[in-house]
Amino acid sequence: MASRRFFAVKLVVFYLAVLAFYTSAQECNQQSFGSDSFVCVCSGSSCDYIGDVPPPADTSSFTIVSSSKDSDRFAVGLGTMDSLQNSGVTITVDPSVRYQTMMGFGGAFTDSTGFNVAKLSAETQESLLRSYFAPEGIRYSLCRVPIAGSDFSTRPYSYDDVPGDVNLDNFALAEEDYLYKLPFMKRALELVSGTSDLKFFGSPWAPPAWMKTNGMANGSGSLLTEMWGPYSNYLVKFISAYEEEGVPIWGITTQNEPMTGFSDWPWNTCAWTAEDQRDWIKTNLGPAFVDAGYDDVKIMVLDHNREFLPDYPAAILEDPETYKYVDGIAVHWYSDNNDYPDRLTSTHDLFPDKFLLYTESCEGWNAAPGNRVELGSWQRAQNYVVNIIDDVTHYSTGWVDWNMALDQEGGPNWVSNFVDSPVIVNAAEDTFYKQPMFYAMGHFSRFVLPGDVAVDRSISDESQIRAATFVKPDGTVVAVILNMAEEVVPVSIQPSVGADFYANLMVPGKSLHTLLFAV
Ligand SMILES: *[C@@H]1O[C@H](CO)[C@@H](O)[C@H](O)[C@H]1NC(C)=O
Repeated sequence: MASRRFFAVKLVVFYLAVLAFYTSAQECNQQSFGSDSFVCVCSGSSCDYIGDVPPPADTSSFTIVSSSKDSDRFAVGLGTMDSLQNSGVTITVDPSVRYQTMMGFGGAFTDSTGFNVAKLSAETQESLLRSYFAPEGIRYSLCRVPIAGSDFSTRPYSYDDVPGDVNLDNFALAEEDYLYKLPFMKRALELVSGTSDLKFFGSPWAPPAWMKTNGMANGSGSLLTEMWGPYSNYLVKFISAYEEEGVPIWGITTQNEPMTGFSDWPWNTCAWTAEDQRDWIKTNLGPAFVDAGYDDVKIMVLDHNREFLPDYPAAILEDPETYKYVDGIAVHWYSDNNDYPDRLTSTHDLFPDKFLLYTESCEGWNAAPGNRVELGSWQRAQNYVVNIIDDVTHYSTGWVDWNMALDQEGGPNWVSNFVDSPVIVNAAEDTFYKQPMFYAMGHFSRFVLPGDVAVDRSISDESQIRAATFVKPDGTVVAVILNMAEEVVPVSIQPSVGADFYANLMVPGKSLHTLLFAV
């Protein structure tokens, strides 16, 4: 076999000159905590940013941004196209076969996220928010915010805890909104201003406890039927209150994980059958949004695991009146190991006009206590990427991560439901750790922007190599490529069907790459 076909990519390993304009652009400050990879340590004075990544000038070259278990974090390079394919895994992109338009990637402004960020100095807070939102960060574009408390709060609460206040005279945002959510959401809006888009959607964990059959924020209970109207007004008031604070709400999900409310669930929840959701949206929520002038606020249903596709949204959307009010179907990843992504496809095929969006995923939720946070885990980053690729190649219009910043235990969480996060805060040292999961998100969020379109690709052997491909409005092709093997795998990417030039890569073991191709 001709060894010349295996030659390594002619990566020009210089950092693009334009990076010099970012005086703050720095290498990852690596720290190992004994996991399979490392974190990057950031402080107020030092943090790694990605900087500008100019697209290739013409079809003879390509831009490549790389992260790997052993060494790189967003290493930027240029490669040269070859006229022969190597004999490794071939990926053929077909930009003419277009699927869903992407709406964005992001995370959640939970109380706990803000609680942890607020413990840092102003300078370190700024490094953290820049890392997520600034042009030199990973450009999050679609973020979730719990409507009042969730388990990632230090207490259960709602915006009106005065029993029987059906007129909502005592409705008010909480201290948590003013201390831990709104200030950081506003700063995020400033950081993206002029360069990109940032949208927020709200999700309720529970209505006020007195509106529920069991009188508790948690446990087994549903919304009292006579509260369908007041609760709709409650959600309208949330949107108005955030709007008045300068934080527009683009959409809501109707209930976080509605099926948890049927069991004796430890944290804030509310049970909803699909039939009740269907009728409530038709008779109360939809009309309340229209009356308030919020008919353009997106309404997403389900907000729970893939296992409930397509039946749960199908039972809601079967009603033509309800159908008019509902914009999309929100999905969480917690059953994805057991439920194949073809459930996404079958849902899309039933309701091609309703978007699919992943609205919550996190690592560590089923890990042993003490291992909820794993500092420096490449495996967890790989799990993110495998899932994102699965979802965006099956019609998901984006992928919204859970908490954006947790403490080293994976909290705070008022029921000790600790989990991992792409950013872990070390308040005592006024630093934070960017986990490999942060880079996993960034390989998508920084490059696949709202408005880009998912396009077809074929992969000759998916046992170790995964890929998702997109096209930008200007025709630039974006390919995100993962190598799950421990060994180097030769890969040859053909940026369009019939192109006679190829990006030949020797893809390092356990590595992740975003490639940009000119048309
Ligand atoms: C619900 O929350 C209360 C505290 O508000 C707690 O005492 C109770 O144990 C919780 N219920 C369940 C089922 O965990």
